[in-house]
Amino acid sequence: MSIENLLEVNDLKVHFSKKKMFADPVVVHAVDGVSFSIPKGKTFGIVGESGSGKTTTALAVLRLVGITSGTVELGGQEISALEGEDLRLARRQFQMVFQDPYSSLDPRRRVGDIVREPMDLMDIGEEDARDEKVRELFVKVGLRPELTELFPHQFSGGQRQRVGLARALASEPELIVCDEPVSALDVAVQAQILNLMRRLQEDTGVTFLFISHDLGVVQHLCDHVAVMYLGQIVEQADRITLFKNPKHPYTQALLSAVPRVDSHGSHTERQHLQGDPPSPINLPKGCRFAGRCPQAMAICHSEPPALQEIGDRHLASCHLL
Ligand SMILES: Nc1ncnc2c1ncn2[C@@H]1O[C@H](COP(=O)(O)OP(=O)(O)O)[C@@H](O)[C@H]1O
Ligand code: SF4
Ligand SMILES: [Mg+2]
Repeated sequence: MSIENLLEVNDLKVHFSKKKMFADPVVVHAVDGVSFSIPKGKTFGIVGESGSGKTTTALAVLRLVGITSGTVELGGQEISALEGEDLRLARRQFQMVFQDPYSSLDPRRRVGDIVREPMDLMDIGEEDARDEKVRELFVKVGLRPELTELFPHQFSGGQRQRVGLARALASEPELIVCDEPVSALDVAVQAQILNLMRRLQEDTGVTFLFISHDLGVVQHLCDHVAVMYLGQIVEQADRITLFKNPKHPYTQALLSAVPRVDSHGSHTERQHLQGDPPSPINLPKGCRFAGRCPQAMAICHSEPPALQEIGDRHLASCHLL
């Protein structure tokens, strides 16, 4: 493991066994051989349609779901091999921000206590200094410190996500995993939260794993982006390469669905992908995208394409390449 990478995920698989009423249990291949790494202080994005395995990847990295095989290393420590007290201690190094600031904050608790909780749980800093730290965190995320006395329902969606970020920062983690953190917010508020995240990263040096179904959102924040389809990464590149020179037909289709303003100032037509991804239970034999790919060839239905390097840190899996 190189020193500069904070997180290294290697051939991660998460398979769920689903019981059936009158038949043998089936296997859901939610995450099926995913590898990526994130340099310290950078933001790595994972994009893909709903059901592609983004959340399960995040939960596996945080050890919140069982890992079927593969490894997760954080700061040189193999998180995927830890149990009990060792795992509890390692958990200090990461935090999560969820999609829905409405349901992820306990409605009966004052937001100041919600932000303070990780410090109490992990016994971080002097006890009588923690409330002051909470007020500092509020200022850091753009909230007035006197708001600590209020309850979550007294905040707007954007403010609640600021509270979520303050809480995530409270234990000074190395890695914050953000699962669709702005998907429930209005576009204008999304931009404010993304700007705040960038500023917080500059201030603290924290590393983000940023998950979104929306390429437009990823474009604003991420240094490196992986595109997931049906449990696998089909393309991975630095942000500029991925958006300027996408090679995989699925990435190209996703990109054409991002609204763009043309030179006359009018929005170009959104092209939606046809059909739905196949089931992660009965996987296609060849390329998993073949059933929806406009460029599919005979070989695509029989041979799965390998993920290969096609440029500097640019990976893609497609028989066309
Ligand atoms: N606990 C579970 N048991 C069985 N199947 C699951 C479980 N969690 C997720 N899945 C399935 O795994 C696939 C990936 O889900 P998920 O990781 O939530 O995708 P995403 O976050 O990209 O929408 C989906 O088909 C989903 O139904
Ligand atoms: S391997 Fe074939 S089906 Fe899969 S993305 Fe490439 S061209 Fe399309
Ligand atoms: Mg999800």
